[in-house]
Amino acid sequence: MTRLDGEWLLTGAAGQIGGILRTGLRSVVQGLRLLDIKPLTADSSSERVYRLDLQDLTGLTEAMAGVQGVIHLAGIADEADFRDLTEVNIVGTYHVFEAARRANVGRVIFASSNHVTGFYPTGVPVGPDMAVRPDGFYGVSKAAGEAVARLYADKFGLEVACLRIGSCLPRPTEPRHRHTWLSPRDATAAFVAAMAAPDLRYTTFYAVSANELGWWDHEPGRALGYHPSESAECHPPGSTWEPATDSVQGGVLATPAYTLDRQRPIRAKFTRS
Ligand code: NAI
Repeated sequence: MTRLDGEWLLTGAAGQIGGILRTGLRSVVQGLRLLDIKPLTADSSSERVYRLDLQDLTGLTEAMAGVQGVIHLAGIADEADFRDLTEVNIVGTYHVFEAARRANVGRVIFASSNHVTGFYPTGVPVGPDMAVRPDGFYGVSKAAGEAVARLYADKFGLEVACLRIGSCLPRPTEPRHRHTWLSPRDATAAFVAAMAAPDLRYTTFYAVSANELGWWDHEPGRALGYHPSESAECHPPGSTWEPATDSVQGGVLATPAYTLDRQRPIRAKFTRS
C-alpha cells in the first residue's frame, strides 16, 4: 500500500468526495488537515480541522503551512449562477493555488470535472489533450480552474494534477453512469495515484472507473499509476439499462434549460429615465 510522508490538506472535506477521501487516505498519509466552510470535527490526533471560506487567502495560506500537498475539492459541484461559480470555483481556486505558492506547497491536486468536455457527442472518444467543450457555466468554471492550475505549474513550478472526475457515487443510478461512473474505491485510487506520482509536473486525466462503455481515454491516468478496479456493469441494474440516449456526454447538464433555470435575474442598473 502507498504511504506518503507528512500532512495533506483537503479542501471541501465536508462534502461527498471529501468524506470518501477522508476515510480512504487515513492509512495513506501521516496527517490530514480538513478544510471547509461547513463545520467539521477531528476524529483522531492525525486530523486537524479548519473552518474557512475559499475567499480567505490569508487563512488558506496559514492552513497550508508545512503541508506536503493540497487536494482541492471545495466549490460548487453543479450548474449554478455564473457569478457564484466565478466567485467560488474560479476566484476560490485561484486563492488555493496562490496560497499554495505562498506556503511553498509542492503539489496541488485539483478536482476538475468531465463537464469540461461535456459537449462532445456521446460516440466520440475523448482525451485530456482535446479542446475543452464545456456543457454549462459549471464546466466553464472548471476549465478556468484548470487554466489557473496550468499557470501555477508553468510559471511557479507547482506540481499539479487535474482530475476530471466522472460521476462519483456509491453505485450507478442512471444510464449515463454506464459511461461515467467513478466508484468511491476508484476515486481514492485516482487521488492517491496523483498524490504519489514521481516526477509530476502537470497532468490532466479522467478519474473514472473501468466502465466497459466508457468514453474517456484511460491512458493518461494509467501513465500516472491509476488502475481502476470497478465497472458500472457489475452493479445491477446497470447492465440491463440501455446505454445513454443523450446526444452529448454531459447529459441533462448540457440542455439550455439546465443552465438558464439557475441564473439570477440581472438587475437593470443603467436604465435611463
Ligand atoms: P460537495 O458539494 O459534496 O462538496 C463540496 C464542498 O465544498 C462542501 O462541503 C462545501 O461546503 C465546500 N465549499 C463550497 N464552497 C466553499 C467555500 N467558499 N469555501 C470553503 N468550502 C466550500 O461536492 P463533491 O461531490 O464532494 O465534489 C467535490 C469536488 O469534485 C467539487 O469541486 C466538484 O465540482 C468535483 N466533482 C465532483 C463530481 C462528483 O461526481 N461528485 C464529479 C465531477 C467533479
